[in-house]
Amino acid sequence: MQKLLLKNIKTLVSVYENAPQKLSGKEMSELPCIENAWLACDDGLIADYGSMEDFPGITDWKELEVIDCSGKIVMPGFVDSHTHIVYAGNREQEFVDRINGLTYEEIFNRGGGILNSADKLRNTTEDDLFEQSKQRLKEIISQGTVAVEIKSGYGLNVESELKMLRVIRRLKELNWIDVKATFLGAHAVPNEFKGNKKGYIDLIINEMLPAISKEKLADYIDVFCEKGYFEADETKRILEAGKNHGLTPRVHAEQLSHNNGIKTAVESGSISVDHLEFCSDEDITLLKSSNTMPTILPGAAFFLNLQLPPARKMIDAGLAVAFASDYNPGSSPSGNMKLMMSMACIQYKLTPEEAISAVTLNTAYAMGLQNELGTITPGKKASLIITKEINSYGFLPYAFGSDLIDSVILKGKIWK
Ligand code: NIG
Ligand code: FE
Repeated sequence: MQKLLLKNIKTLVSVYENAPQKLSGKEMSELPCIENAWLACDDGLIADYGSMEDFPGITDWKELEVIDCSGKIVMPGFVDSHTHIVYAGNREQEFVDRINGLTYEEIFNRGGGILNSADKLRNTTEDDLFEQSKQRLKEIISQGTVAVEIKSGYGLNVESELKMLRVIRRLKELNWIDVKATFLGAHAVPNEFKGNKKGYIDLIINEMLPAISKEKLADYIDVFCEKGYFEADETKRILEAGKNHGLTPRVHAEQLSHNNGIKTAVESGSISVDHLEFCSDEDITLLKSSNTMPTILPGAAFFLNLQLPPARKMIDAGLAVAFASDYNPGSSPSGNMKLMMSMACIQYKLTPEEAISAVTLNTAYAMGLQNELGTITPGKKASLIITKEINSYGFLPYAFGSDLIDSVILKGKIWK
């Protein structure tokens, strides 16, 4: 049994003896901390913690590894509840096309965007796709991510959607961090079904879902509910079919226009609803009466220069809000959660406390891991960030371009 002791921690952040399921409204700014702290981990889990002033001196532990955290901050690792890190190649040309004046929608309508990634992915072997994706997984772990949700949705036919989901399963089997898999066959209508969206939805429901369910390849079902992609009634039908196969819904909603995605997500009992640039006041009221986690993806709004989702208004209305990266080749080619936290503060006016709550416990809730991750709580996984020597946790979002992560602890072991 592996035992690890972190001592002389400058600030131990987000300490809850009994953690809530999520943090809503004002709770997001509480962020209980212990100054000059110690933290003990046993067998991959958080065992105990306290102030160095009454440090018990655990002398009976054999094979105890000790890390001196003088001047450093220890916090729960980032939980990234929305990514598309399984993809082939990149889309730098579209980045340049947008600089030169084309919009994201115009690029898609010319057969680019998601369809460009689908072309590339269909022509990539499973092993090659796994290697490319594994590099991205390593990258985000080194940036402090300790759990990740990964979506399919660049295959858009039975064979390639299964290929993506098998790659996600292989990433999960590496056993580095927690991985949840989402089936996003309804990401776009592929070229071979142009003009026959109903045919493609039938393929999703009648062929893809049974095959995925047979191999138990997904935890969640997702739909890109957007004009030109999938309408609210189509979204509803696909989510219900997913539920019949035991998958929990989550939705891409109101990103480029208002398309009743939030309403559909809430009515379907979605665990989260993501993007939300065009979220209305009525949507906020709807969300308040639901268990659905509204999730902002600041990387995508930044990269595509979209109007900003009303995160501040949501929190002030008492809602819980999560922030995730949306790491993908088309609208957010970064999975750096510390950077997402900076955007949360700078662009959305969250305080550093609220931003930390938004990228840890609230994202953990959005992938069903709130009892395992997201806070410093006895019995939760010891998956943590140790920062470099900094003055306060507020320096993390403040120094938006600096790498301030000294080490990442995954289930009680130092990640190398
Ligand atoms: O979450 N909005 C839809 N899907 C992705 C982007 C997909 C892409 O452009 O490749 C997103 O932003
Ligand atoms: Fe996405």
